[in-house]
Amino acid sequence: MPQTIPYLDHNATTPCDPQVVAAMAPYWSQQFANPSQRGHRPGLAAAVAVDHARQTVADALGVTPSQVIFTSGATEANNLAIKGICEQRLPQGRHLVTVATEHAAVLEPCRYLERLGFTLTVLPVQPDGRLALDALAAALRPDTVLVSVMAANNEIGTLQDTAAIAALCRQRGIAYHCDAAQACGHVPLDPTGWGVDLLSLSGHKFYGPKGVGALVARPGLALAPQLHGGGQEGGYRSGSLSPPLIVGLAKALALALEDQQSRGQRLRVLREKLWQGLNGLKLPAGVELLRNGCPTHSLPHTLNVTVAGVDGARLHSRLRRRVALSSGSSCSSASGKPSHVLRALGRSPAEAAASLRFGLGRGATAADIDQALAAVQEALPLAGVP
Ligand SMILES: Cc1ncc(COP(=O)(O)O)c(C=O)c1O
Repeated sequence: MPQTIPYLDHNATTPCDPQVVAAMAPYWSQQFANPSQRGHRPGLAAAVAVDHARQTVADALGVTPSQVIFTSGATEANNLAIKGICEQRLPQGRHLVTVATEHAAVLEPCRYLERLGFTLTVLPVQPDGRLALDALAAALRPDTVLVSVMAANNEIGTLQDTAAIAALCRQRGIAYHCDAAQACGHVPLDPTGWGVDLLSLSGHKFYGPKGVGALVARPGLALAPQLHGGGQEGGYRSGSLSPPLIVGLAKALALALEDQQSRGQRLRVLREKLWQGLNGLKLPAGVELLRNGCPTHSLPHTLNVTVAGVDGARLHSRLRRRVALSSGSSCSSASGKPSHVLRALGRSPAEAAASLRFGLGRGATAADIDQALAAVQEALPLAGVP
């Protein structure tokens, strides 16, 4: 894609890093063998590449290789975690708990289970998007089998207190699943130290390829497989493995961790420059900027702002030509519905529609910020009232 306008939608997806593309290259047409065929040399070489990638991912997350289950992405990892635990723990109970601001890849599997007869509690969040721990504690019941709360929100960047959530669940013997698709590669993750039972991640959120992710499971955790077949991935996820995608995921994760801290510091500064710049714009009468999410507990590269008092559809149609950003999650944009995340923060449908999500990439510059600010300034008077 010719990059003619600043791309500030890195929460939706990131480009594949050239070093990742290079690492993947041999596994498409040259070393193409099936890693399940360890009986011949090409198969064994493919298996070694997958083993190496699994070790890299495990090292990056401080877990053992046998805890890593490769999947097609975070959607599949979430489905495996949520349905797998609920099926496995059927004799113990049929109650699960999640949060209103979760991604559809968590909410929809939970609602599916609700249709099958499970009881689902969807907890509200505080105005900054954080889950109140006492609300979670109060929602847990003797028949609760699973809690699913994400690490970082895809629309507003808010970080949840995963360690405290894990501790609450652990005390009660409840499985805790954490969708870390947005957090992985951007903020430190310590599933073992925190006591997370299941953690999902996705390659394309940290400059890896699309179509690959992983579910990291606590050792010894019993989980009912959701894809039955040849028994790959320890029987948890049947289906031929893709060495190029898996090698790419591992390479991308290793690269992301190399500069995670310094990148986070740099992007946080740029993000605050963007927020200050937005506040310095000339706003039409009756228009107000509202920051969504929690400034102190958030992904460093994510800023979500409601431009209250303007027509969201017109604002976005004006901005579209000047800057690539999102009005919410990619999923909610496609459906055209106001973002359920912003609604859960208390924004009205019109306010949710008039919201801008900026997702800064690792190469973001001050010039990108200036271009984005100029685009917003130009669009504001033309957007009109809702
Ligand atoms: C928080 C979160 N969970 C899950 C997903 C789905 O990930 P994937 O595209 O790998 O299926 C996304 C992607 O937008 C996400 O942001």
